[in-house]
Amino acid sequence: MAQYSLEISYLIASIAFIIGLKFLGHPETARKGNIIAAIGMFIAVLTTIFLYKSPEGKPLGNYVWIFGGIIIGTVVGTLMAKKVQMTAMPQMVSLFNGVGAACVALISVVEFSHYNTTHTGASLFNGLTLTIILGSIIGCISFSGSIIAWGKLEGKIKDIYLPANQLINIVLMLSIIGVSVYLMMQPTANLNLLLIISAISLIYGILFVFPIGGADMPVVISLLNSFTGVAAACGGFLYNNQAMLTGGILVGSSGTILTILMCKAMNRSLTNVIIGAFSNPKTKKADAGAEQRTVKEISVTDCAVLMSYSKKVIIVPGYGLAVAQAQHICHELEKTLEEKGVEVLYAIHPVAGRMPGHMNVLLAEADVPYPKLLEMDEINPEFSTTDVALVIGANDVVNPAAKNDKDSPIYGMPILDVENAKNIIINKRSMNAGYAGIDNELFYDAKTKMLFGDAKGVLQKLVTEVKAN
Ligand code: TAP
Repeated sequence: MAQYSLEISYLIASIAFIIGLKFLGHPETARKGNIIAAIGMFIAVLTTIFLYKSPEGKPLGNYVWIFGGIIIGTVVGTLMAKKVQMTAMPQMVSLFNGVGAACVALISVVEFSHYNTTHTGASLFNGLTLTIILGSIIGCISFSGSIIAWGKLEGKIKDIYLPANQLINIVLMLSIIGVSVYLMMQPTANLNLLLIISAISLIYGILFVFPIGGADMPVVISLLNSFTGVAAACGGFLYNNQAMLTGGILVGSSGTILTILMCKAMNRSLTNVIIGAFSNPKTKKADAGAEQRTVKEISVTDCAVLMSYSKKVIIVPGYGLAVAQAQHICHELEKTLEEKGVEVLYAIHPVAGRMPGHMNVLLAEADVPYPKLLEMDEINPEFSTTDVALVIGANDVVNPAAKNDKDSPIYGMPILDVENAKNIIINKRSMNAGYAGIDNELFYDAKTKMLFGDAKGVLQKLVTEVKAN
């Protein structure tokens, strides 16, 4: 009866994960999706603790350890999640991902030790050993890789380009495969061999992430997330736990899809991200001529007048808006303009900012209505009928080189057609390049005027001036 109830609860949990994931696909339903998936996880955890019986009919026990861990984890996780800044979300995701991966790796080591007492075959060449070894390899790679990714995003670890990094990684991977095959040919479970495999995997994870440019971390974190999902699915196989299996597969597949989508939106291959073509100083395109060429500037007052007398304004937010935490004042500018009868829309590029959905989350935090946030395909035709395109802290996502310059590292990346607007105003602090490290022709366009300054300060002044008009 208990077993039957347990399986039903796993089914309910799996359905909750799937519905949760579906809801997470839209900002409006994302919060609900998160809660539904969390309820599914809660059911799966509680029923496992109280309904699980070993093949000998024994309950799980160890309740003090289990609930002790749950309480500590809940308190630490809640405090961290409450404290985290929106711009620091990728590092937190990375840290939590690392913890999950370490958990799967530890499960593999613990279960492997138990395995010796139950195993009776001539060699360990079977699905169970493979599952344990895979869980340990992928879990260790994902753990150490995620911790390095976290360190880089926190600015604690620099990009490190070892001269023979690729070669070392290949040697490490071959060693992992070699020792794993050797271990599976043994008649008994040799824990030391598994520990050697785990240690090499930890080193591999570190060296794999070391050379990747810090700003490429969101893609890598998404990839490592999918690794952890696959490792957790191995745990699900191991324990014959359907909820863990479904959860792992969903994390693995959605992480993989997200990684592919991010690469596609940047028009880069995963290999290109991994070898760091944007971030590696050796491959960075020279910012030639940026100093010598002249740009036209506009004052806050003139900009306010221009926008106040416009029919349609499109705001193009980018990474700089997030850094400046200018989302609230940006929403105020939008409302002030609308009170004057100006139509205001937002153009959302899929990889604006530094994490998937960065601009959506940022603007949702400031209560900007969702219908105003238009994705690239929807907003691009609107630019030709727009009086002012106000670009706030965005650079690469509006760089025409993606369309015109075959030699540009961003060539082929779909961009926002800002150059079609009647007037283009660019707010940024200097002529510095964006994430891709390249100059932007749009800044020198005849229709473009630069509005230099920190986004928050500039927008505050703009709101005051627009109100005065
Ligand atoms: P970027 O091209 O990085 O440009 C951001 C601009 O913001 C910079 O040129 C910077 O110029 C300006 N800025 C910085 N701080 C500012 C502040 N306080 N006030 C005003 N401006 C400020 O950003 P983007 O256009 O959003 O493009 C995103 C880039 O990140 C793309 O290349 C994309 O491929 C990459 N990327 C995105 C993701 C995801 S998933 N979103 C993941 C990995 C990589 P100044 O220094 O002169 O102010």
